[in-house]
Amino acid sequence: MLDIEEQHKYIKEQLLKLGEWFELDDLEIHLDELLEQDQLKASIENAVAPVEFFKTKSWDSILRFGFYRISQYCLVRKLKATNVIETGVLHGLSSIFTLHALYLNNNKDDIGSRLISIDFPSYYESGPSNSDGFMDTLPPGLQPGWIIDSSHKKYWDLRIGKSSEFLTSALNDCDNEIDIFIHDSEHSYKTMMYEFETSWPAIRQGGFMIVDNLSVNTSFFDFAHKMGCIPYVAPVDPDHKLSLSETESGIRFGILQK
Ligand SMILES: C[S@@+](CC[C@H](N)C(=O)[O-])C[C@H]1O[C@@H](n2cnc3c(N)ncnc32)[C@H](O)[C@@H]1O
Repeated sequence: MLDIEEQHKYIKEQLLKLGEWFELDDLEIHLDELLEQDQLKASIENAVAPVEFFKTKSWDSILRFGFYRISQYCLVRKLKATNVIETGVLHGLSSIFTLHALYLNNNKDDIGSRLISIDFPSYYESGPSNSDGFMDTLPPGLQPGWIIDSSHKKYWDLRIGKSSEFLTSALNDCDNEIDIFIHDSEHSYKTMMYEFETSWPAIRQGGFMIVDNLSVNTSFFDFAHKMGCIPYVAPVDPDHKLSLSETESGIRFGILQK
């Protein structure tokens, strides 16, 4: 495992590369800001404390949540995003990073921004709903996003069901104009391509599409090619548990800018 200084250096380097790729100045300002947000780590630790199923109980730094979640936080802050849609919630670890960025974008209490999340739940009792080999489930008796505390829930709108059933209405509810779309649901070619093609027209000029675990199939690159976008791809973090496709490709997630 990297020590915390190495982890900081790694995340900062990745953020600089991301900023250079999309010509975004000073993205790392938001990393410095995140490092001062003690309440975010505290609220996650507070949520996991009584849940036996969730083994990690504390983190020595917010940096341990990895580049994928930190980059989402920084992009939501950088764009001053007001409308974000994501698919795939599970415990809500990515969601809470986006929600915290929206909370700061909202100037902490004026509720003008929101995250709409769509999740077809992987209940402990019924097993994983993914058919792509992703086997994690929620803890027994808990709902998607159980990690999210009431102060972050103010900016959150969770819709339970498949993205194929709920994405169009979620986009309509944002008047078909969103800042960022995040895919992390069912990583099948069909679902991924459906989500990309459905959300892309609603992403505003300069907005982003973030796609996790993209190396499972070619949908991300096929879509980028079709749209004439040169994709940014992020490597797997040194400390991340690797799936087979990530081991082979070394790629974790990708981003397209409209
Ligand atoms: C990889 S997990 C999401 C992890 C989360 N984004 C994070 O990084 O913390 C994938 C989630 O997608 C949900 N899911 C599976 N198929 C789905 C579908 N068709 N539509 C929406 N959600 C789906 C699963 O139940 C699971 O909770």
